[in-house]
Amino acid sequence: MVGLLDPLVVKGVTLKNRIVMPPMQTGRATTEGAVTDRLINFYTRRSTSLGLLIIEHCYISTQGRLSFKQMSIHEDALVEGLKKLARSIHKLHTPAIVQISHAGAVANKRVIGEQPAGPSATRLSRELMRDEIEELPEEFAQATERIARSAWLLTESVLLTVIQQAQGQLRWLSEEQDAFSHYGC
Ligand SMILES: Cc1cc2nc3c(=O)[nH]c(=O)nc-3n(C[C@H](O)[C@H](O)[C@H](O)COP(=O)(O)O)c2cc1C
Repeated sequence: MVGLLDPLVVKGVTLKNRIVMPPMQTGRATTEGAVTDRLINFYTRRSTSLGLLIIEHCYISTQGRLSFKQMSIHEDALVEGLKKLARSIHKLHTPAIVQISHAGAVANKRVIGEQPAGPSATRLSRELMRDEIEELPEEFAQATERIARSAWLLTESVLLTVIQQAQGQLRWLSEEQDAFSHYGC
């Protein structure tokens, strides 16, 4: 019988066991979202025993930031730190995924310095403007390209709609749904 500690091959990638660490924000980045030695120590210590690691959510734009010491990938200057983290984890032969995100309406007003914006206005957030919605796929694409440059295996994208859906806040307007149906909304 196959056990938890047996290897698993997924699409050509070998996991040394079936233990997966889900993304969990650690609050160990700098206030600019850069990787720190503390963050590297945290993930490398755990990677030794994992089959697959999913690195906590990294914001793709300052508008989509959730907390002060959250990791980020919204600008090129952050690539070097992520590369260093990737090198430390790959040395242990542990495949890893980086989660990238935009917190949308649940972004933190105190942290981003403006009212958060999401698909629908809520008590604490405003509705995204059309040009902001159009910028989002490009911001995700740029963040994904930076992650690829940092030598990571894969990215997992979490869009504000997912976060809002999870929190039961989504009230899509039918006209917006039509206008952006090509994004899979
Ligand atoms: C401290 C903490 C930080 C978390 N950070 C993230 C995160 O960065 N991204 C994410 O998708 N989920 C995050 N989660 C959710 C966890 O991934 C989730 O709790 C885990 O997958 C276990 O699932 P369960 O809570 O449904 O049992 C976080 C959870 C905790 C407790």
